[in-house]
Amino acid sequence: MSWFNKLVVSLMPLAPKVFIGQVAKRYIAGVTLEDGLQTIAGLNSRGYLGTMDVLGESITDKAGTETPMRLYQALIHELGNNPDLRTGISVKLTQLGLDIDEEFAWGNLKKLLDFAREIDLFMRIDMEDSSVTSKTLQMFERAHEYYPNTGIVLQAYLHRSEEDMKHLMDLDANIRLCKGIYKESPEIAFQGKEKIRENYIKLGKMYLDAGKYLAIATHDDHLIDHLHTYIANKNIPDAQYEYQALLGVPIDNILNTLVEEGHKVRIYVPFGEEWYAYSSRRLKENPDIAGYVIKDFFK
Ligand code: FDA
Repeated sequence: MSWFNKLVVSLMPLAPKVFIGQVAKRYIAGVTLEDGLQTIAGLNSRGYLGTMDVLGESITDKAGTETPMRLYQALIHELGNNPDLRTGISVKLTQLGLDIDEEFAWGNLKKLLDFAREIDLFMRIDMEDSSVTSKTLQMFERAHEYYPNTGIVLQAYLHRSEEDMKHLMDLDANIRLCKGIYKESPEIAFQGKEKIRENYIKLGKMYLDAGKYLAIATHDDHLIDHLHTYIANKNIPDAQYEYQALLGVPIDNILNTLVEEGHKVRIYVPFGEEWYAYSSRRLKENPDIAGYVIKDFFK
């Protein structure tokens, strides 16, 4: 990381909200449900699939889960009214109360699963930091048994992910494989780009070889190329994989080529009022964005 980027990351907590707001414009569809649906319609028209996320996480009181629950219900309702939209949804369990009480979170999740079942909607459970990995996987298992049209996420940087993957294989789970975004210690997580890449490739191949469904969620062209070639050489059927990227990350050239070649490419589309934490994370991930935002400011 350059000294400038390090400086940007270290100054992040001091960044005015208006600055993070400029970053948010790039990474979120907007604040309303309508913004989210319009973004999906636009992506669909260009051959992309979507997964919609109501922004928010780490809720610490039961009343705080009411707003995200209402928004998710409204979202599922609208997707029922717009069956032409090709999208699933993504959910974070701490938004449903996982940090408060597991049974309470399960009650919320079960309600959303019931709504999703009515329209046969695919729901993926995002993976959060390591303090909730086990609980998230347990909850996923319960959800999957209750409504099988659900998926989960594994993080290639965690040492435990290989064992978790073997277990998920037995459940025939649909896995999104990502590198992992939270800061984790060397005791539990690989550190450094190369080590994480190595494990990503190992896990990706392991799941594909087992004949299970893998969503390859990365913007790292090295990983995309590597697994793309592997899939082609092994004649792995289209029905067994897809590529995924976050809205706003500038890798359109790679994604457009994948779409043109007929591969499934899904874009993660967050929307809602709670854009601050999500956008701060994106900025930390790629501090170069700070430079673009500053340039835009002065244009
Ligand atoms: P890497 O960080 O090496 O980036 C590869 C290239 O893309 C670099 O050139 C980089 O600059 C560029 N790039 C990456 N992020 C960028 C950005 N925000 N803006 C501009 N350029 C950027 N994590 C998690 O812990 N739990 C989860 O549930 C999910 N879910 C999820 C869904 C989807 C669809 C994706 C694509 C990613 C996630 N992630 C996630 C995030 C993931 O763990 C990881 O942090 C990011 O994808 C960044 O890692 P890359 O694999 O893209 O590689």
